[in-house]
Amino acid sequence: MRTVRTIAELRELLAAERRAGRSIGLVPTMGFFHDGHLSLMRRARADNDVLVVSLFVNPTQFAPGEDFAAYPRDEQRDAELAAAEGVDILFSPPVEEVYPGGFDTTVVVGGLTETLEGDEAQRGAEHFQGVTTVVTKLFNVIRPQFAFFGRKDAQQAIIIKRMAEDLCIDTEIVVCPIVRDDDGLALSSRNAYLSAEERSAATVLHRALEKAQVLYGGGERDAETIVKAIEEVVSTESLVRIDYISVVNTKDLEPVQTLSDDQTILIALAAFVGKTRLIDNVVLNGEI
Ligand code: PAJ
Repeated sequence: MRTVRTIAELRELLAAERRAGRSIGLVPTMGFFHDGHLSLMRRARADNDVLVVSLFVNPTQFAPGEDFAAYPRDEQRDAELAAAEGVDILFSPPVEEVYPGGFDTTVVVGGLTETLEGDEAQRGAEHFQGVTTVVTKLFNVIRPQFAFFGRKDAQQAIIIKRMAEDLCIDTEIVVCPIVRDDDGLALSSRNAYLSAEERSAATVLHRALEKAQVLYGGGERDAETIVKAIEEVVSTESLVRIDYISVVNTKDLEPVQTLSDDQTILIALAAFVGKTRLIDNVVLNGEI
């Protein structure tokens, strides 16, 4: 595996691969790898000749006061894990390489970015503008045939699919399943912030979403009833405070009151476990 720090070197390497007719797959990440990241690499490894993983803690997607400076980083460990997954190129540029002086462009996807995580009361649409701008830049530099994203960040995946379609980006977006620990907690780099007690309390989020799934399986179609059931399960853990629970359709992320059988539904939640904010979700009746 080669670690590359500049766009020029990356372009040169990939131009040679393209000339040789080899397909390129990309897994964009912010590092501090866990099995969720590695599952994307495994899937991408199986489907592509050349596998590029980007490792870039993107400052523009963190709100002021969010954890950009404190975001966990361990490039050496990440490089070892990526190499073990058969990654060909680890693209790990410094911030100035991605955002040189004078950088002044933002890629803005519309309404999809203004709800759920993009709501002003949450992280705000600017969060997703940071994501779509950096992902567009990565797509333009790498020009992958396939790019792999996790359903853990369901809204992010839906937004990137919309962007790729709207802008005729010649990359197929592949959305991969959520990887969880044995106790159900969705893997996240932010789990590193949890104390042992918080870590155990956080499993209630998955139990609550499972409860929603069971209700849906039993024929429940009223969103409010499902939300109340989730709240009830979460309320059994005093360390966990719900930020939001939303029941939306996966096409436009508009709230759904009655779940109809011709819609794919996303139940997304965010919760504080102590000071750490975690997200999780379940998709009903289809896939993103
Ligand atoms: P990051 O949080 O590092 O996540 C990188 C990818 O790993 C995302 O597609 C995310 O959905 C996926 N992922 C995270 N946890 C997962 C889990 N438990 N199971 C499956 N997949 C999981 O998402 C970002 O970085 C950034 O916003 C990025 C797209 C790289 C743009 O900066």
